[in-house]
Amino acid sequence: MKKAHIMKNSIKLFVVAAVAAVGAIGIGSAATETGFASGEASSPRSLYLQHCSKCHGADGRADTPKGRETDADDLTSASTKRASTAKILRVITAGKGDMPGFGKKLTAAQIRQIAGYIRTL
Ligand code: HEC
Repeated sequence: MKKAHIMKNSIKLFVVAAVAAVGAIGIGSAATETGFASGEASSPRSLYLQHCSKCHGADGRADTPKGRETDADDLTSASTKRASTAKILRVITAGKGDMPGFGKKLTAAQIRQIAGYIRTL
């Protein structure tokens, strides 16, 4: 009887510790993935890192597992550099092929900020 009680408590403790650990890992990896300090949470760079780097990579070259899997464009390529801003805005807003559209997730102003940011990659 007593033993069962101790078991229950240690299971509870384990669950609490596991949840805390997952939380900490989550926060840790979110911070490395997006690379922003809290103050610049909505800078063009952090928006890009948050929404685009999974496929296009932090450097824009799409050399990430998801980028290779979806055959994402290298945003530093000559052809993307030549693309008009109108086209870039359209692709980000509506999506293209395996790229989802961000028109519902981001505001038009945020999409313009990201479009400006990828020109600097
Ligand atoms: C799920 C992976 C994925 C995510 C996330 C993603 N993209 Fe893409 N992106 C792609 C793929 C795949 C293509 C190529 C689409 C095609 O041509 O069929 C692409 C194409 C583009 C192009 C067109 C480049 C050109 O030369 O025509 C731009 C610009 C672009 N992405 C920017 C972004 C931006 C900015 C974000 C974040 C807001 C983003 N992408 C998020 C996968 C992704």
